[in-house]
Amino acid sequence: MSLIALRQTEKYYNKGKETQVHALREVFLEIERGEMVAVMGVSGSGKSTLLHVLGLLDSFDGGQYVFDGTDVSALQPNQLALLRNEKIGFVMQNFGLILHQTALQNVSLPLLLNKHTKYVQVSPRALKLLEELGIGEKAAVPVDQLSGGQQQRVAIARAIANEPLLLLADEPTGALDSGTAEEVMQIFHRLNEEKGMTVILATHDPKVAAECSRIVYISDGIIQGRRD
Ligand SMILES: Nc1ncnc2c1ncn2[C@@H]1O[C@H](COP(=O)(O)OP(=O)(O)O)[C@@H](O)[C@H]1O
Ligand SMILES: [Mg+2]
Repeated sequence: MSLIALRQTEKYYNKGKETQVHALREVFLEIERGEMVAVMGVSGSGKSTLLHVLGLLDSFDGGQYVFDGTDVSALQPNQLALLRNEKIGFVMQNFGLILHQTALQNVSLPLLLNKHTKYVQVSPRALKLLEELGIGEKAAVPVDQLSGGQQQRVAIARAIANEPLLLLADEPTGALDSGTAEEVMQIFHRLNEEKGMTVILATHDPKVAAECSRIVYISDGIIQGRRD
């Protein structure tokens, strides 16, 4: 069974209005557990929309999405939130951190929302994650005092806090210099290879895409060269 199966999935913004955008068109996409997939396309092609739908952050308007055996269109908002918290990590394009809070507080948040994590385990676990990502010494520093590369590591630590099956990252190297970008890619490789996480990242950097096990091209909301 695939981890992800989109079938004829459609997504509109501002549906029925003059400003309507048809952002995903009849998308068929299957992704197996353990894959590391790059989603490539020019700006405005639908990369973020696709990731947001896959990450259960955004609804869709037609077709089907089966995630880890669950047809997500049948779920209520609270069930979606639970599934997202337990099984999906998302590294937002602008990191999406709470800037005035410390690195530790940012990473603690998804752990606090997880019913299976005891309160006393939250801080030690968050610190361990920061240490694993090489920024343990920044735990008590407010995120707005960290460099871009350090913020990206905090964002990744937060995304993987609940050991998700699926890690989504929206242009994770886009704002980083090439050395830092390479370090961040090494982190994704490690999570994919050592922890078996399925990784999907949007990028328009061919070098980043070439490091992935598969490239999915999207243009005008259409996935090119589908496999099935
Ligand atoms: N919240 C939104 N409201 C209206 N249109 C949007 C919204 N988000 C994205 N779009 C439009 O949907 C299309 C796909 O955008 P997006 O998924 O952000 O592309 P990419 O990430 O590849 O740059 C674009 O035409 C964009 O303008
Ligand atoms: Mg985008």
